[in-house]
Amino acid sequence: MLASATRKLGEGAVFWKAMGLTCAESSSVPAWQRDQAEHLWMPYTQMRNAPLPLPVVATEDVYLVLADGRRLIDGLASWWTACHGYNHPQIARRVRQQLEVMPHVMLGGIHHEGAVTLAARLASLLPGDLSQVFFSDSGSVAIEVAMKMAAQMWRNRGQAERNRFVTFRHAYHGDTTGAMSLCDPERSMHAHFKGFLLEQFSQPIPETESEQAAFTEFLATRRNELAAVVIEPLVQGAGGMRFHSPQALAAVARMTRQAGLLLIADEIATGFGRTGSMFACEQADIVPDILCLGKALTGGTLGMAATVATGEVFEAFCGEDDALALMHGPTYMANPLACAAAHGSLDLFAEQPRLDQVAAIESSLAEQLEPCRNLSGVVDVRTLGAIGVVQVERLHSREKLTELFVEAGIWLRPFHDMFYLTPPLSITPVQLRRLTAATVDSIAQWSRWS
Ligand SMILES: Cc1ncc(COP(=O)(O)O)c(C=O)c1O
Repeated sequence: MLASATRKLGEGAVFWKAMGLTCAESSSVPAWQRDQAEHLWMPYTQMRNAPLPLPVVATEDVYLVLADGRRLIDGLASWWTACHGYNHPQIARRVRQQLEVMPHVMLGGIHHEGAVTLAARLASLLPGDLSQVFFSDSGSVAIEVAMKMAAQMWRNRGQAERNRFVTFRHAYHGDTTGAMSLCDPERSMHAHFKGFLLEQFSQPIPETESEQAAFTEFLATRRNELAAVVIEPLVQGAGGMRFHSPQALAAVARMTRQAGLLLIADEIATGFGRTGSMFACEQADIVPDILCLGKALTGGTLGMAATVATGEVFEAFCGEDDALALMHGPTYMANPLACAAAHGSLDLFAEQPRLDQVAAIESSLAEQLEPCRNLSGVVDVRTLGAIGVVQVERLHSREKLTELFVEAGIWLRPFHDMFYLTPPLSITPVQLRRLTAATVDSIAQWSRWS
């Protein structure tokens, strides 16, 4: 092993200090972390100097339980996944039953009830004719599949040159190479891969009349080389938690349709209630040609994603010639455990007033985060559905911030130039108040450090 790649446990001291302990003397440092943490390559992390991550040993309801027994309210729902909170008994029961019967089976040439009924269930929930469901194991792969579907649809129709995509400034669609090419080429975390990635067209989201005229003009000019327009409806997530109106989304859909292009809606983050409706597209009353789901699909239980196409897109893949078929098939696609978890999650959406809860969360977040607006360094406070954002001039002291959050009993992970909250949709008003009070207090302390 390269010595330079070896991280010393002491580098994680910030967290142990937050717990009132030095790392070496802490009996709450689990042995697996003390002895073996250097082998785990963490995501989005400069491994040379990053503090060691917090050791989580259990989850429960809206809480992460740390090795020393502390319980943190998870303000992120594990990257938007745990929409019903953690370890929901109904989901756990479904997965446990499935585990006894059939943990996994390939989907080629054979299929199983969980996959068939989940596809039908998603088709019945989604708007319009989004009826053909292709499963995969992560959001990024769902995006790759969407790109491949769009490009191949044109190819199958004899227009192979239509294989490029229009995306939007601040877009984020994932970390695989096709998905990376759809991210903002100047501002995203993948910007330094220019030259390696497929080149797409990045445009501002057209909101004003003149921007819409320019967008229409752009589509008309490039039409013959374009396969589809790709958008994160209503909320651009990892590219900066930026919101646009349902009217702007509807206008993008209309202009895309008029230009004869496909519209791909990336609902990987927004799907399943996060923006206040089951799917963000519903608020603009639009039906994309292809829609991607992931994250909360299994209620935060197992990795699973889906790319859903309309019957019209699907039709282009059907015919006598085998070459028309979609040549894609992730080994674990439609994993039966993941299907069971997704069914459990959809049961909960049917039984619980989740969308009402999102409406209540939205007004609580707006009211309870409002005091941040007056803090030094804060430039904006905004909320949409169960998403709260406090944007600042410059994010600094990230490690100390984590210390503050842990002391305050919450888990947040600020990034770019913002603090954001995407709690479980099932969070109670009391838990939410604790989360927002601790967030506001921590940001107030942070703002005094500037
Ligand atoms: C809008 C959007 N698309 C795609 C992805 C990629 O999903 P995954 O991380 O499951 O590959 C993400 C992940 O954050 C996302 O927010």
